[in-house]
Amino acid sequence: MENQLKNLQTAALKALEGIKDEKSLKDLEVQYLGRKGKLTEILRGLKNLPDEKKPMMGQLSNKTKATLEEALAQKLTALAKGKLEKELSGEFFDTTIPGTAREIGHIHPLCQVQEEVERIFYQMGFAIADGPEVESEYYNFEGLNISKDHPARDMQDTFFIANKEHKDSSHRAGGHGRMVLRTHTSPVQVRMLEKYGAPTRVIIPGRVFRNEATDASHEHTFNQVEGLLIDKDISMGHLKGVMAEFLTRLFGKPVKVRFRPGYFPFVEPGLELDFSCLLCEGTGKKEDCPCRVCKKTGWVEFMGAGMTHEKVLEAGGVDPKKYQGWAFGFGLTRLTMMRHGITDIRLLASGDLRFSRQF
Ligand code: PHE
Repeated sequence: MENQLKNLQTAALKALEGIKDEKSLKDLEVQYLGRKGKLTEILRGLKNLPDEKKPMMGQLSNKTKATLEEALAQKLTALAKGKLEKELSGEFFDTTIPGTAREIGHIHPLCQVQEEVERIFYQMGFAIADGPEVESEYYNFEGLNISKDHPARDMQDTFFIANKEHKDSSHRAGGHGRMVLRTHTSPVQVRMLEKYGAPTRVIIPGRVFRNEATDASHEHTFNQVEGLLIDKDISMGHLKGVMAEFLTRLFGKPVKVRFRPGYFPFVEPGLELDFSCLLCEGTGKKEDCPCRVCKKTGWVEFMGAGMTHEKVLEAGGVDPKKYQGWAFGFGLTRLTMMRHGITDIRLLASGDLRFSRQF
């Protein structure tokens, strides 16, 4: 048996010399040290030896095993090193070349504008909040003084969630009704008042949904920013000041705003706010003004707003005798399109990197 071990070791080491790649190295390892390997076989024979020979032979076979293992490991290192050297010796290797940069994503143009909007309102002392996109009919309509027969509820405008009643039927206006995809961010007005009461000063950016045919200027999903300021002695003058300041900071040049009468059930009086065209500065006349934006009127329609209706304050548990204020809602999607001259709304949610990489 002693000879057997010696011969085996010599043969194995000799075979090892001829090995040139990792695969044959692995094969050799299996051949000698594997479960059915040559050395393993000899080791199995140990138990048949007379007892007095066992310790000596046991030691010898362990030593053989260790020698082989080490030789194999050394060979593996040598092979790896050789491979690297070969790679490096082939050509001049410039260690100062920068590595391959991994592509990282960037912020979608819509979110970029949203972040800017948030920053400006935050600087003016507004909190930033959000609310659920799947909303109850109560918050989306009744709580905002939009009665059951109001055309805004039309099946054509609102996505209803099939067979889905709001699970809490307790609301004073006879339950919460069905569930809808919110058609505007205004429902969060009532939620904010319920939760935090007055005074409050908050903007609510978020996604809204309308059941509309899609074209270059209409999408079923778009983004709005709601604003709500409730306090003592608040007037429309504050609204005008805040919006002129906001738009001036956003566009980085002086912007004027004007009010026109408008109707929304949740404000009284209600109004539409326009801002002066950035290209012709409100004149509608500048020679170089293409005025696709203002259509040569000098003004761009921007948002709906008004003094918060008493019914809305009451729905939010705020006493209209003590507090009043205003609310506004504008289209973040439209603002983004104006900002970047995007002409087709559908591009925004297309997921097409050729589009979003431009911003
Ligand atoms: N919710 C209105 C809309 O979607 C906008 C609005 C908000 C109007 C707040 C007045 C006050 O058109």
